[in-house]
Amino acid sequence: MENEKKKEIVFSAIQPSGTITLGNYLGAVRNWVSMQDEYNCIYALADLHTITVRQEPAAMRKNILDAYASIMACGIDVEKSIFFIQSHVHTHAELAWVLSCYTQFGELSRMTQFKDKSAKHADNINAGLFTYPVLMAADILLYQADKVPVGADQKQHIEITRDIAERFNGIYGNVFKIPDGFIPKNGARVMSLQDPSKKMSKSDENVNGCVHLLDPPEVIMKKFKRAITDSEASVHYGEGKDGVNNLMAIYSAVTGLSYEQIEHDFDGRGYGDFKTAVGEAVAETLRPIRERYEQLVKDKAYLEDCYRKADELALKISSRTMNKVMKKIGFVL
Ligand code: TRP
Repeated sequence: MENEKKKEIVFSAIQPSGTITLGNYLGAVRNWVSMQDEYNCIYALADLHTITVRQEPAAMRKNILDAYASIMACGIDVEKSIFFIQSHVHTHAELAWVLSCYTQFGELSRMTQFKDKSAKHADNINAGLFTYPVLMAADILLYQADKVPVGADQKQHIEITRDIAERFNGIYGNVFKIPDGFIPKNGARVMSLQDPSKKMSKSDENVNGCVHLLDPPEVIMKKFKRAITDSEASVHYGEGKDGVNNLMAIYSAVTGLSYEQIEHDFDGRGYGDFKTAVGEAVAETLRPIRERYEQLVKDKAYLEDCYRKADELALKISSRTMNKVMKKIGFVL
């Protein structure tokens, strides 16, 4: 049919480097779920990326399987989308090597994430940390992705992906689709509840700063009740009100209410009421996810079946690109 356009391909990935947090959910995974009808979605658990920082083997194994089940529980539909484990699909590491020979030392040196991470892990500035963006480029380019939803902190990595792809295409012809990165409009940037100048992170020194996807309601309530605010005691968005701004962003993301509506609803009420409302709304949002997660982890065979099938499809799709790349360069196939 004339107006039946082919669906565009969306690719994205998340690192299974600990539990999935409320920040991961509101910033990324919820959006993955909502794109499944409109696009052909391919999602990966980027486990190869996690070893740029040293991991403990038993914890790593657990994190990968827990993250897989958690993200599935958020509503990934295996009938519609492909959700696979990066390390199970060998084309990723292969294309990363090839692309590293088409990426300049200078351009990798300019990556702000590399500079930040090497400052943070000064005792382990390994080559993988440096070439991390090349593996990410390989992830994306293997699937000829049209669109790549990412957090603001990954924008530079999308830029370098496009540069590498254009350079390669410039030498060998049209091998790679040039992907567009985008920051989802409804993708809330969730900050720590204890230090709202920092992104919500599982590595927050203060356990109350980070809400995990699988936290039970009473824990969620406790964390929100302790959230840092300010001394003004007025629920509105404003400069110098990072704590309240963050709570408003979270509340708006889970209820769909505008900031104006929230300010109106809480006019003349204190922070105690507001924090309770935010906590309850978050707990309600996460409740069905936690319940689905508990069902899923009981059925290891089902989960394994899901990722094996997805791994196989990912290998099939990515091998087409990989073969083309090898042939163009001059390898004997
Ligand atoms: N680097 C991304 C992050 O830390 C995760 C990631 C790996 C990714 N490969 C990707 C994201 C490909 C988008 C596309 O958030």
